Amino acid sequence: MGKHNVVWKLLVSLAVIAAAVLLLSGVLNGGQMYHLQNRGKLGPLTREDIKYLDIVETPMPTSKDGTVNASDWKTVYPEIVATMGDNDKNSYVVSYLEQDPYLVNIYEGYGFAKDYGSARGHNYTLEDVAKTERPHPMANCLTCKTPNFAKLVNDMGVGAYKLPFDEAMAKMEENISCYTCHGNDAGNGGKITITHSYVTKALGKNADAIAPATLSCGQCHIEYYFTPADKETMMPYSGKETMTPEAILAYYDAMEMPDGTVGFYDWVQPGTGTKMLKAQHPEMETFLHGKHAGVLNCADCHMAMEMSEKGTVYHSHELVSPLGNETLLESCAACHGDTDMVDFVHKLQERVTARETEVGNKLSALKDALTAAAAADPGAEKLDGVRKLHREAQWFFDFCYVENAEGAHNSELAFRCLDTAEAKIDEAMQLLNA
Ligand code: HEC
Ligand code: HEC
Ligand code: HEC
Ligand code: HEC
Repeated sequence: MGKHNVVWKLLVSLAVIAAAVLLLSGVLNGGQMYHLQNRGKLGPLTREDIKYLDIVETPMPTSKDGTVNASDWKTVYPEIVATMGDNDKNSYVVSYLEQDPYLVNIYEGYGFAKDYGSARGHNYTLEDVAKTERPHPMANCLTCKTPNFAKLVNDMGVGAYKLPFDEAMAKMEENISCYTCHGNDAGNGGKITITHSYVTKALGKNADAIAPATLSCGQCHIEYYFTPADKETMMPYSGKETMTPEAILAYYDAMEMPDGTVGFYDWVQPGTGTKMLKAQHPEMETFLHGKHAGVLNCADCHMAMEMSEKGTVYHSHELVSPLGNETLLESCAACHGDTDMVDFVHKLQERVTARETEVGNKLSALKDALTAAAAADPGAEKLDGVRKLHREAQWFFDFCYVENAEGAHNSELAFRCLDTAEAKIDEAMQLLNA
């Protein structure tokens, strides 16, 4: 064999290896192909069965702001638009304040003490934000409700966040919709596009480590705050490593405020004088540090793959609990075998919520004791030590309470938060009684 021939063969094999590596890394690193990789058949249908992965022409937008909306996509993706409409079905709201009366006390002085119900489907976002009894003076409250606000921020910059609520609200056209998760690029095989600019700002290149079908939900199902100066929605971390309650607390504690003080807070509680934090709904953070993080994404458990009568396979865009959906429940079996998943999850959630009630009531008692002590004024030094513990205890409690899966996404983290909260409550009580 001639020397040239060997070199040529070597080059060809290198090219083949390089192509394979590129292909595989694209597949494993996210991109839309992340879905359903390397774990065998998940449920009755696999990604290969899905239609709509080809590139199609983008319809002309009929909206005022240039976002291609659900009705624009209707003839191209009828099943997807129809199932997104089915988010109407999730209309049930539980009042958390009635369910867990201690909340009214621990949130004293903040909007959540007046109005705090469970979340419902994506098709109610504008209706619910309009009627909440929590104060919402600025447009930043629209961040997680509508694609039109994301577009407004993308067009006019961070100035949009400080617009008067009513002025911005008048421009909003749709509840959460195609543009939210796909930009105007849904016709590119359902390519995920992150349209909420703060995600890219906060995470930078670290965003690449998170599967798009997770990060698309993580535009909203996260802990966030409003920056003190611009009132811009922002994530309190820079990547998965710092998405823990401990690291987020440290981030808030170290934040320089416009008035020269150090330490971010959402409100100062009137009775106790504690500078309080309010956690939001850290689903992505909780999930990413849980048992499924490496193998599944949010869509795997909340968006069932369905087949229409015509045989079209697609992801249902109705976001459901896996416990109430046969296809999703069946997909658990690939790893959980014949475990009764409904029973398994409910038992786990019962343990978590029982512990929440226990720690929540202790937190409420601490709040009363601190209020009484503050009224008697035993001196700032002692009070501030207790207030620091009170702030921290409530933060850890809240991080667990407000997460919507009640332990199902990550029970270890739920119990860690509640144990940490309890230890801080006990320490604060000892200090008060010393
Ligand atoms: C809340 C986020 C979200 C919204 C809103 C959304 N999608 Fe999707 N879409 C997804 C996710 C996640 C996938 C699955 C991506 C994956 O796993 O690769 C997907 C997949 C798709 C696909 C690929 C085919 C399939 O079924 O997997 C198309 C096409 C698509 N979406 C179109 C739309 C259209 C049109 C709308 C509006 C009517 C819309 N999407 C609204 C998140 C969203
Ligand atoms: C633009 C922000 C946004 C994005 C992106 C988003 N959500 Fe939501 N989601 C919300 C809001 C806000 C609510 C509560 C709506 C209400 O109660 O009015 C909600 C509610 C839900 C609910 C119902 C909660 C309940 O307790 O009944 C589920 C389930 C859900 N989202 C899952 C997802 C999944 C899965 C994704 C990604 C595919 C996603 N969401 C993407 C903002 C978002
Ligand atoms: C392994 C499957 C799995 C994955 C992956 C998963 N979840 Fe869940 N999720 C659940 C289960 C189980 C529940 C509890 C459902 C119940 O109580 O009926 C839940 C509950 C929720 C809820 C409350 C709504 C409800 O119906 O109770 C929201 C919102 C939610 N998840 C969002 C997300 C988001 C966002 C992601 C990705 C960051 C995600 N989930 C990833 C299994 C999963
Ligand atoms: C790709 C494999 C895989 C699939 C699919 C899967 N799980 Fe899991 N799940 C795991 C593993 C691994 C664990 C950890 C088991 C352990 O620690 O003993 C786990 C644990 C859990 C836990 C306990 C989590 C905790 O933090 O305590 C819940 C709840 C759960 N799974 C629900 C579901 C549901 C519901 C589905 C289907 C919608 C599902 N899983 C699908 C692999 C999977």
